[in-house]
Amino acid sequence: MSITSNCTKAAIKDAAATLIKGDLVAFPTETVYGLGADATNEEAIKKIYTVKGRPTTHPLIVHISSLENLDKWARDIPEYAIKLARAFWPGPMTLILARTDLAKDFITGGQDNVGIRVPSHTVALTLLKEFESLGGLGVAAPSANRFGSVSPTSITAVEIELADYLSMNDKFLDGGTCLVGIESTIINCTQSIPTILRPGAVSAEMITQILGLPVKSLNTKHNQVHAPGMLESHYSPKAKIFLNGTPVAGAGLIALHSFKTPIGVIRLASPRDNEDYARSLYKAFRLADSKKLEKIFVIPPTGDGIAVAINDRLAKSAFEK
Ligand code: TXA
Ligand code: MG
Repeated sequence: MSITSNCTKAAIKDAAATLIKGDLVAFPTETVYGLGADATNEEAIKKIYTVKGRPTTHPLIVHISSLENLDKWARDIPEYAIKLARAFWPGPMTLILARTDLAKDFITGGQDNVGIRVPSHTVALTLLKEFESLGGLGVAAPSANRFGSVSPTSITAVEIELADYLSMNDKFLDGGTCLVGIESTIINCTQSIPTILRPGAVSAEMITQILGLPVKSLNTKHNQVHAPGMLESHYSPKAKIFLNGTPVAGAGLIALHSFKTPIGVIRLASPRDNEDYARSLYKAFRLADSKKLEKIFVIPPTGDGIAVAINDRLAKSAFEK
């Protein structure tokens, strides 16, 4: 595989051609890096599952360049889903909708619905447009990490996760550090009212503001939808996570800037606000692993908005394996 750090139009075109050929491209989005493949090519999709070490029953999100292409993949789209798409696409939101015949079982894990997202990162959008100009219809892309591990927010993190598993023909596009830093909000739009399946930067308040309706949030323990991001243990570094405990010497610490580092504790991140917290979290987890720390103490953010998404990931990463 080869890494392109200077993502010129020519380099992105080359990556789009790589996808058309049935090979893989790791690319930046505003949330986390994705590992992309042609969503209509079963062999290419199999490679994603092998490279990630992910069970094939777990569905993939299809990325498209604009709302105009949504009806290729989804049918019976409720009015509220269109409102959400108009408000938050391109951006960190995935809609789960009833699938068309284009969304095969190898994408949806055999479910009758499909997850669709229009990302806002320029490199991602340009890649999707180039891919579509070559006849492509959508790029399936899970986060570019091994199954159960922490999503990568930089190309270095993608390399650490996947370099050993990718082949010569696969490509990496380096688009810098991801601005959001945690995965997209996933909203189930297959029922009369929307349900948040995975919280993200598009918060419940933002959704309510657009729709004028309260939105349900799923209790992960009673989740009927098959989705690995919803397993209780996920997004995990090797170190054990302690939420709200008193940091001990030799352990790592993640807390807002205002929280002082006790003597002997290794500061992993000092975010200034909750957005910065989301952006720093996975990098801090990786730093802990690179320092071979055994314990990370985390003082979680409070409040609503993106704090809800951060707390969801923290709870999953702290879950006993
Ligand atoms: O921000 C993101 O969403 C990133 C970037 C690359 O777009 N992608 C991402 O994909 O996080 P992944 O596969 O790592 O996580 C997507 C989650 C998984 O838990 C998957 O099972 C769930 O979304 N999912 C995908 N399609 C679904 C569907 N049809 N129904 C329910 N859950 C679905
Ligand atoms: Mg993932």
